[in-house]
Amino acid sequence: MVRRKVKWSWVFALLAMLIQLHFFTGVFSENNENTAFRKLLSINDRELVASRAVKLNTQNRREVIMSNGLLQVTLSSPDGEVIAIKYNGIDNVLETENKQDNRGYWDVVWYKPGDEGTYDKLEATNFRVIVADENQVEVSFSKKWNSSRHRSNVPLNVDKRYIMRRGVSGLYAYAILEREPGWPDVDMDQIRAVFKLQKDKFRYMAISDERQRIMPMPEDRVTGQPLAYPEAVLLTNPTNPELRGEVDDKYQYSLESKDNKVHGWISSDPPVGFWMITPSAEFRTSGPIKQDLTSHVGPTVLSMFTSTHYGGKDIDTKYRNGEPWKKVMGPVFVYLNKVSSKGDIYGDLWKDAKKQAWKEVESWPYHFPLSKDFPKSYQRGNVSGQLQVFDRYINSSITGAKYAYVGLAAPGDVGSWQTETKGYQFWTQSDEKGNFFIKNVREGDYNLYAWVPGVIGDYKHDINITVKAGSQFKLGAIVYRPPRYGPTLWEIGVPDRSAVEYFVPDPYPTLMNRLYTKDTMDKFRQYGLWEQYADIYRNDDLKYTVGVSDYTREWFFAHVTREIGNRTYQATTWQIMFELPYVDNPGPYTLQVALASATDSELQVRLNDANVEKPHFTTGLIGKDNAIARHGIHGLYRFYSINVPSNKLYRGNNTIYLTQSRSRSPFQGILYDYIRLESPPGRDT
Ligand SMILES: *[C@@H]1O[C@H](CO)[C@@H](O)[C@H](O)[C@H]1NC(C)=O
Ligand SMILES: *[C@@H]1O[C@H](CO)[C@@H](O)[C@H](O)[C@H]1NC(C)=O
Ligand SMILES: *[C@@H]1O[C@H](CO)[C@@H](O)[C@H](O)[C@H]1NC(C)=O
Ligand SMILES: *[C@@H]1O[C@H](CO)[C@@H](O)[C@H](O)[C@H]1NC(C)=O
Ligand SMILES: *[C@@H]1O[C@H](CO)[C@@H](O)[C@H](O)[C@H]1NC(C)=O
Ligand SMILES: *[C@@H]1O[C@H](CO)[C@@H](O)[C@H](O)[C@H]1NC(C)=O
Repeated sequence: MVRRKVKWSWVFALLAMLIQLHFFTGVFSENNENTAFRKLLSINDRELVASRAVKLNTQNRREVIMSNGLLQVTLSSPDGEVIAIKYNGIDNVLETENKQDNRGYWDVVWYKPGDEGTYDKLEATNFRVIVADENQVEVSFSKKWNSSRHRSNVPLNVDKRYIMRRGVSGLYAYAILEREPGWPDVDMDQIRAVFKLQKDKFRYMAISDERQRIMPMPEDRVTGQPLAYPEAVLLTNPTNPELRGEVDDKYQYSLESKDNKVHGWISSDPPVGFWMITPSAEFRTSGPIKQDLTSHVGPTVLSMFTSTHYGGKDIDTKYRNGEPWKKVMGPVFVYLNKVSSKGDIYGDLWKDAKKQAWKEVESWPYHFPLSKDFPKSYQRGNVSGQLQVFDRYINSSITGAKYAYVGLAAPGDVGSWQTETKGYQFWTQSDEKGNFFIKNVREGDYNLYAWVPGVIGDYKHDINITVKAGSQFKLGAIVYRPPRYGPTLWEIGVPDRSAVEYFVPDPYPTLMNRLYTKDTMDKFRQYGLWEQYADIYRNDDLKYTVGVSDYTREWFFAHVTREIGNRTYQATTWQIMFELPYVDNPGPYTLQVALASATDSELQVRLNDANVEKPHFTTGLIGKDNAIARHGIHGLYRFYSINVPSNKLYRGNNTIYLTQSRSRSPFQGILYDYIRLESPPGRDT
């Protein structure tokens, strides 16, 4: 056996050498017309053309042009916007009908606390060549904040960087944003990079294996009819008649951060793909399941670095009292690919884009960005350990935390990572036994946070973690003891920070986005589902009987208001009915309530008397997530352990009343994640 292996390896080595020789011969004879070269070119023209040097042209003072034989990128100077990308016979894949500053740019939505929000496109004032050799060009467009323009310019120093590399079919983009100590208060709702493509070419959008197709044109949204939540439009007269009667809403194309690695658009003639590849989520905010926009009708391609989407004001980036800040957004990779027009254009380009995304992930952290603010692999550290769970009412022994989400974020309270928007976060998923390895962490002070699918609550390790260049932090076994006071009497749902397991109705046939027709898992992305609550529960609200009802069919996914005509809405009260064979005295019992989202809501809990004025428990006014109107099945996670004194319970039948008491609009409401009633600890403790 061994001998045979050795033999084969020799054959492979020889073959590899031959192939390499062949390749290099091709390269060195670039102008040679010999047939061998021609043959090679047709097999492998990408690699060959790719071997051409990167060139930088700054002859025109208002433009900076980079090219590498694969693509040519034109940037405005000194503003630093991407105004043209020439690729595969298309002079400019960006929308030439748009003004130069509305094709490929960065922007920040910001305001002074109390003022109206405004955009700043971060137009730079200073152009600089960082490096320009045959292997790489890196250019910088920067500006210092000018305090005499404090009304129009967000108080930030900005350094926008673009990199083109030899043999790489795309453009790397990153930005270093900085606030100096003492600068004015500011709120930043959103920081992003935007690309707007030629609408007559790019018609097909792909954001995942299941979510891709021919999309409406931007004018279809103009001729259509805005719906109650006006960012959704009913296409009444689309250019493509097949899309008539469908709904389009950019929030229907959101992804969770952990899944948002590649998305973009395809032109079929010529067959070209344009992709936003995000190899790391370290510079995004609010953890791995934060949802955000991707691509949408325009055709628009976004890289969202921060935003208030699906979290509201709780996750905007606020600076007060002159707090300084510096953060590197990116690099992200704008990738262009092409195929021959034979075969499955969409399938082939999407598959290739995914392959490229994987390559970028594998080569993170990049070694080539030249800003000293972007640390290389050797300037980072690793953190590892094993997360375990101990909940004696589920298992008398400590068990490994199965597929736990484990991450490092700025030091803070338990669960603070989901509203943390200033620092870097590093997340991974553990294996079946809870082993985790977080690699390539930037230097700094962190807390380690985690949550475990199927287990309630949030974990925070109580020791601060300081990561240094080259450090390997081995935490060993650490144990999460989730909230638990006594044995489970009953439970509704699955603790997974989402309402996806509950009853999500079929969409109204007149309000569908057929992108989701096949993908039943994502039914929640359809428009207007919240209104179906009032269709199903016309007069009486939802009643759930423990032991009889099935939450997958009888627990509506969203606790919303009910319209009672003329745009007037009513609070709704849900009932959970359950029987107790006896009441354990003295209590207390515990009601564990985990919410997956809240929007301008107040959840009140009453025990066995719906009419008592003062609720037994209230959350108070919570949430600006807007996850219901924007078709997210979760927003921010909120957890409540509610004491239930035994004198409030009866032997026999009991009812818990859950009232969502705020009812000005149809979009107010909460999403439940999980509810559990625990009896008192009992005598076995
Ligand atoms: C700051 O802005 C003011 C007003 O637009 C302008 O006059 C001044 O030259 C700017 N300063 C710098 C350093 O760019
Ligand atoms: C409890 O944990 C042990 C050890 O991990 C495992 O073998 C066992 O199946 C678990 N029991 C239950 C009821 O989950
Ligand atoms: C952890 O870091 C935070 C923030 O820097 C600090 O307030 C806290 O005292 C530290 N805790 C410990 C145990 O060192
Ligand atoms: C951290 O892990 C990465 C990936 O396994 C490895 O390349 C790197 O050398 C490690 N760093 C240290 C300091 O151990
Ligand atoms: C509907 O409400 C509006 C505003 O509250 C009111 O002016 C109008 O008279 C109401 N119409 C009906 C039919 O009740
Ligand atoms: C509880 O309610 C159910 C359904 O209304 C009823 O059948 C049952 O007899 C009640 N149990 C007691 C102990 O009152």
